[in-house]
Amino acid sequence: MGRKMRHFLNISELKTNDVKKIINQSHVLKKEYGKRKFKKKIILAMIFEKPSTRTRVSFEVGMKQLNGDVVILDQADSQLGRGESLIDTIKVLNRYVDIIMYRGSDEKKLYEIANFSSVPIINGLTDQSHPCQILADIMTLEENFKDISNLNLCWVGDGNNVCNSWIHSCLHYGFNLNISCPKGFFPSKKVIDVVKSKKINFFDNPYEAVIDADVLITDTWVSMGMQDEEKRLEKFKSFQINSKLMKSTKKNTFFLHCLPAHRGCEVTDEIIDGKNSLVWTEAENRLYVHQSILLWCLGKV
Ligand code: CP
Ligand code: NVA
Repeated sequence: MGRKMRHFLNISELKTNDVKKIINQSHVLKKEYGKRKFKKKIILAMIFEKPSTRTRVSFEVGMKQLNGDVVILDQADSQLGRGESLIDTIKVLNRYVDIIMYRGSDEKKLYEIANFSSVPIINGLTDQSHPCQILADIMTLEENFKDISNLNLCWVGDGNNVCNSWIHSCLHYGFNLNISCPKGFFPSKKVIDVVKSKKINFFDNPYEAVIDADVLITDTWVSMGMQDEEKRLEKFKSFQINSKLMKSTKKNTFFLHCLPAHRGCEVTDEIIDGKNSLVWTEAENRLYVHQSILLWCLGKV
């Protein structure tokens, strides 16, 4: 019997040991950047049903630095855009490539292709999750705190895909996670029930949520593919991360945002460009984390 296929789908399904292995290896890959090489050429296919800058570039650069290569299929310029099914596309890619990254909408499709594929599948973001991002964020926290095990994290804004993956991370780390969202925008019960942590607490008032925060985290108020932008924005106004909110914390609080940011909406310039903003390092760390995820999926970590 061969090794069980290692898909990278959701943090909630990974073993703690594997999450920590991937992140530890990411630190090594950063320190020794450019040294690690595949013994034989490995090809990654990336399917994008939604736009991307960081995910696309960091996977591509990461693969090339490992002596691998990538092929990219965008919805618009592949037969996916003309109605060829995703499963048929995967069947074909399985004959060409060693590993596949998929960015799409409904997570059901991610699991369908993972059940079907003969090569590992990496979740590059769905409407429900963004696990690659959260591993890079945790790596960034490890670089900035001596011990991250009991950090007070505070999510302010939309209870979206990125927030869901933070919730999943609480299965592996002892984070205290406060979540403050406008009514109707909290993460779903389904996601919260996966973790059932007493250390995750919910707040209507962001000023109450942030008091003890070591890290404030937010994301766009309008994720890719969402409608009703105008109506949503109105409800989010008091959930902006700005100097006033930052000053309400009792600590030297850091700031994380997965990017792209909508300056003046979920975050102000003085916070994202401020001394406690970790956003650029967070984006950089996607590179090493993606290399590490690739190596883990391929059984090389
Ligand atoms: N944070 C993130 O995933 O960015 P992209 O959408 O640019 O890939
Ligand atoms: N929540 C955002 C994340 C972008 C990386 C979105 O899904 O658009």
